[in-house]
Amino acid sequence: MKRPGGTEEQKRRAGESAARAVSDGDVVGLGTGSTAAVAIRALGRRVDSGLDVRGVPTSYQSRALARDAGIPLTTLDDALPDVAIDGADQIAGLERDGPADVIKGGGAAHAREKIVDAAADRFVVVADPTKLADDLDAPVPIEVLSDAVSVVESALVALGGEPTLRAAERKDGPVVTENGNLVVDCGFGAIGDPASLADGIAALPGVVEHGLFVGMVDEVHVGVADGVEVYPRES
Ligand code: A5P
Repeated sequence: MKRPGGTEEQKRRAGESAARAVSDGDVVGLGTGSTAAVAIRALGRRVDSGLDVRGVPTSYQSRALARDAGIPLTTLDDALPDVAIDGADQIAGLERDGPADVIKGGGAAHAREKIVDAAADRFVVVADPTKLADDLDAPVPIEVLSDAVSVVESALVALGGEPTLRAAERKDGPVVTENGNLVVDCGFGAIGDPASLADGIAALPGVVEHGLFVGMVDEVHVGVADGVEVYPRES
């Protein structure tokens, strides 16, 4: 579920910072959401100036934005990303050793996002400071086959969760993903062991993909009032 985010300026700083981290010749995973959109538009401006890249979109939105921005597209069948740039709904563990943990899927695109982001050599998350948390405690988006919603919801309750089928806003009934599935948002309170919860959810029959991205993130660019904070910090 999307929650109110930070300012446009914070998102702009984060997205532009990540776009600057792309090198000539790179294949770039193009994330979904308002912050990734800033990065896609900034990358398009670099393409206008002569940068040679190809993008792998993670959604209809990112494909349309990339086409509009003039970024040539490719697919995972033809090229694996050197770098993927994507947003997040919540980020925890920035100051510890090892990768930050992230919850994604507020836009219901997390299945394709996880495939592209995981395939990239380097996964860069772009965010504003409202996304940062000590522990992950936001509801976890879970894409589920429609026939399996009831059994998955029961199994999520057994895992300690409180599942809610995501309702569409300008359509009667539930959100339907680009893959034709439904989304259950499941609150677990503070998630003490994201890796173990991720394994537990992934093991449920009928779950297509969940929004816990654990052990995947290489860098986080956070747009703040007077610049960008990049994690892990350079020592
Ligand atoms: C899409 O499904 C999500 O994973 C987005 O990347 C996430 O919701 C972040 O979006 P914003 O940058 O718009 O907050």
